[in-house]
Amino acid sequence: MENQSRITIKEILEKKRKGEKITMLTAYDYSLATLIDKAGIDMILVGDSLANVVLGLESTREVGMAEMLHHTKAVNRAVKKALLVGDMPFGSYQKDTKTAVANARRFVDEAGCNAVKLEWFDGCLEVTEAIIKAGVAVMGHIGLTPQAVEDKKGFKVQGKDAESAKGLIAHAKELEKAGCFGIVLECVPDLVAQMVTKQLKIPTIGIGAGLFCDGQVLVAHDILGLFDRFRPKFAKEYINLNKLALEAIIRYRDEVVNGAFPDEAHSFTIKKEELERLK
Ligand code: KIV
Repeated sequence: MENQSRITIKEILEKKRKGEKITMLTAYDYSLATLIDKAGIDMILVGDSLANVVLGLESTREVGMAEMLHHTKAVNRAVKKALLVGDMPFGSYQKDTKTAVANARRFVDEAGCNAVKLEWFDGCLEVTEAIIKAGVAVMGHIGLTPQAVEDKKGFKVQGKDAESAKGLIAHAKELEKAGCFGIVLECVPDLVAQMVTKQLKIPTIGIGAGLFCDGQVLVAHDILGLFDRFRPKFAKEYINLNKLALEAIIRYRDEVVNGAFPDEAHSFTIKKEELERLK
């Protein structure tokens, strides 16, 4: 169901025009999405990083439409103001245009998304155009595209030499021409990201792409210190909730073991007369 009070794509484009920074975070469930939305983040991405962060899998290639839709529906129930973007999982848009369009529409029709994101691959321009023609807004994703990386060693900064940087700029322009309303730039040198940003009318949303992008996206679990299996250099931790949560869980365990929990405040009582009748 389309939520009328959500930020629109027009407003996101307007932010770039006015030079206002755009904020974006991932969410995969109702409770965290509620907080992110309340905080006034412009866009929420149900990222396929769901695979690593929530499902404990090794690669983003391991999640499919079923998992993505399941989590996106939960996030959708929470989101009132942010623009909701669904990340199309590996295999859902690369095979053929018809399947890609059908899957993109599922993110909107079944899971309440306002847009989808897809990673660059040979043939993505045709797919992007077809999805947009079918009425679904598309965000591109270039630079490091995790779905194309087979192992952790492949997680490298992209566009570090003039040739590959030129390639990135060309891809960004092609995605803009194809109709994307924004592009995620992942792991790109800051000055290359600045060049891309300056040459586009649509916003660039950086992740490990420096300060000159029009906006920033990070994995919420990284900024909250909720995921420590690996942490890329660009992921700034604003609080370590893992540490606080572990302390709380240990206190709970200890209180159950030593009989301090549940106390009166967390228990229910029965009236004396009812207890007598019961006896
Ligand atoms: O899945 C993801 O987390 C992403 C990033 C760009 C945030 O695609």
